[in-house]
Amino acid sequence: MKSIEELQKLREEAQKELKVRMDTGTVITVGMGTCGIAAGARETMHAILEELNKHQIEAHVKTVGCIGMCVHEPLVDIEQAGKGRITYGKVTPDRVPRLIEEHLINGRVVEEWVVARMEESANK
Ligand code: FES
Repeated sequence: MKSIEELQKLREEAQKELKVRMDTGTVITVGMGTCGIAAGARETMHAILEELNKHQIEAHVKTVGCIGMCVHEPLVDIEQAGKGRITYGKVTPDRVPRLIEEHLINGRVVEEWVVARMEESANK
């Protein structure tokens, strides 16, 4: 994975296949600030898209410039309707399969990687 352009193309292709359901679905946000990229956020993004595709999980994957916690990069937010929003830190590509399986498939938060959480009501 070399450039943001390639990453965006990959994301668009994956999203087409995954059929976005914004209202009731899952939103995954990857921090792509300078420090996020330096910490390997591109590779994390790539790993997330591959893992979602592999499991045929419908989710909207987006990037933000900076989530604001350099020390925990790469940062990944997972937001689900009715369940609030969880921010995970140090999401290196090797952690992605467990994260997707636990959080999205089994519905369990991976507590030891959580750096912040926002309840559903605080989010509206
Ligand atoms: S660029 Fe790292 S917290 Fe903003």
